[in-house]
Formats: sequence, C-alpha cells, structure tokens
Amino acid sequence: MIDKTRENTPHPSPLASGPTPEGGVRLQKIIAGSGLASRRKAEMLIASGRVTVNGKIVTELGTKVDPGRDHVKVDGKHLEGAQPFVYLVLNKPKNVMSTLDDPGGRPTVKDFLHGVSVRVFPVGRLDFDSEGLMLMTNNGDLAQALLHPRYHVPKTYLIKVKQVLTDAQILQLQQGVQLEDGMTSPAIVKKVKKAAQNSWLEVTIREGRKHQVRRMLEAVGHPVIKLTRIRMGPLALGDLGPGEFRFLTDREANALRELVEQRIEMEQTGQSPSARPQRPKRGAGWAKPDVVRKVRRASVKKTRGARS
Ligand code: URA
Repeated sequence: MIDKTRENTPHPSPLASGPTPEGGVRLQKIIAGSGLASRRKAEMLIASGRVTVNGKIVTELGTKVDPGRDHVKVDGKHLEGAQPFVYLVLNKPKNVMSTLDDPGGRPTVKDFLHGVSVRVFPVGRLDFDSEGLMLMTNNGDLAQALLHPRYHVPKTYLIKVKQVLTDAQILQLQQGVQLEDGMTSPAIVKKVKKAAQNSWLEVTIREGRKHQVRRMLEAVGHPVIKLTRIRMGPLALGDLGPGEFRFLTDREANALRELVEQRIEMEQTGQSPSARPQRPKRGAGWAKPDVVRKVRRASVKKTRGARS
C-alpha cells in the first residue's frame, strides 16, 4: 500500500509495537526509525532516488507505506531487521549509580526503568551523589558519538556551591582552570541565585572528564554542595522528578541524530566544531537574595512511545 497524501499529525513510531497508523507511515520516518539516518538525511536519501518501495524508486517525501507489508530498500538494502532504537531520559536521583549494575549492590539507574523491556544503557556518567538528566538508549553508535570529545556536546549543570563566587573566579571558570589532568576548556557560567552562605550557578561544559565540574569549582575554592544535570545538547530535563523517565519525542531523537551528523560532517570537511562556548550575556548578575528563581524548565510533557 502506498499513499502519497501528506501526513500532518504526529504518529507513534513505525517501529514501536502496535497497529500501523491508518494511512501508513511516512517513508522518511520509517528510515529514520530504523536508525539508518536522521529524518533530514532520510529526506535527502528519498529525494535523491536512493529509496525504493516494493521495487519502485520513490522520490516524493509525503509517501506513506505500511511497514508490515511494503518492502523498503535504501541503496538496494532492506530496512527489515533493523533494530528499533529506543531513547529515554531519566532523572537520576542522588545516591544512585549511573551504571546498569553495581557489584556493591547499590541502587542503579536500571531500578527506575519500570516497564522498559529493551536493554538501554546510559550515555555517559553522573557521580553517585549527582542527579539529573541521563540519556539512555540502545543506539550504540549515537551514544559513542555523543560521548566523543571531538563532537563537544554541551552539558549544563545547575550547581549549588559554598559561598558566593567573585566575578574574577567566574571569569577563571569561563577561561579554563588548571586541574591535575590539564587545563579545562572554556565554560559558560551563569549566575543564578545567591544567599548568605551559598550560591547557585549554571555551568555548561563540552568535556566529560571525571568529576569535572566538582573539580573545577574546588579549584576556585567553592566546593559543590549539589549538582544536577539539566541539559545535554538539545535535551532538557524539564519537569521530570527524581527517578522519573520519559521517552524522547521524535523531534528530540531527530535533533540528537542531526547534531551528531552535523558534527561528523563538519569534521570531515575540516570545520572542526568550536570547543569555545558562547560568551555569557553582558551584565548578567545574581538574582536578588529573596527571589527564588525556578530552574528554567522546558515544559515537556511526558510522552510515551516516541521511539524512533
Ligand atoms: N561533573 C561532575 O563533577 N560530576 C558529575 O556528576 C557530572 C559532571
């Protein structure tokens, strides 16, 4: 069945179990869902005549197919058998290991994935006493690319530190601090809130050294009291409570894949992605002590089934 009407409403992933949406699934979504390419790249593959459905070249992007019946090939190869990829974001609570197993018997992130039957693994680490956004997936290539230091995926942490940093100390973090394993790359540092004894900052880094943020703050004399990862590349923790998880939306999964593809393309064409984050806005200051500023949270509702 091939139907060329355009689809305007979101569908569940073609590769999620369950009935095929009425009218079929867009070809680019099926290709992206197989993990072969991002949605954008899938569209390019279709437009350039590299995709066939039941033996016929299809170049129209709105084409819908029935993944259960139609035979889709890219460059002459079947998509069948491609493993459906699953992506989810967990808000790792404090005092939980960010691994799947712990020989010491401590709780791990796996304990929070109730009802997830696919074996997903964490992309990167958070310290035992850190909390926040953990991306988990069974897409090994994507995970590896996201973790690769060359691709510089920015990660943002909301941290509570002892005392209040001076502007000179903030500048030091922004420019790089000397740690025992070398200078850190420039960071983005935003003042969030200060109180009499503590202050809160948002720190964005593009490296992933062990205990890096804690060590950076220690180096400027302000030990971290609490650390929460709130963003990773295009993903935001949003309003997920500790221990809660949600599947990524199709848009988020595509944004991740596109980010990685862009970085790889840039590298291949010699335009190395800059390790230097943008400068913070001029005049950004501390919030008034009595203002309880909420962490900016993307209002992402819990979405199920967005596995692509
Ligand atoms: N940096 C740290 O120091 N700890 C974390 O858990 C993450 C980043």
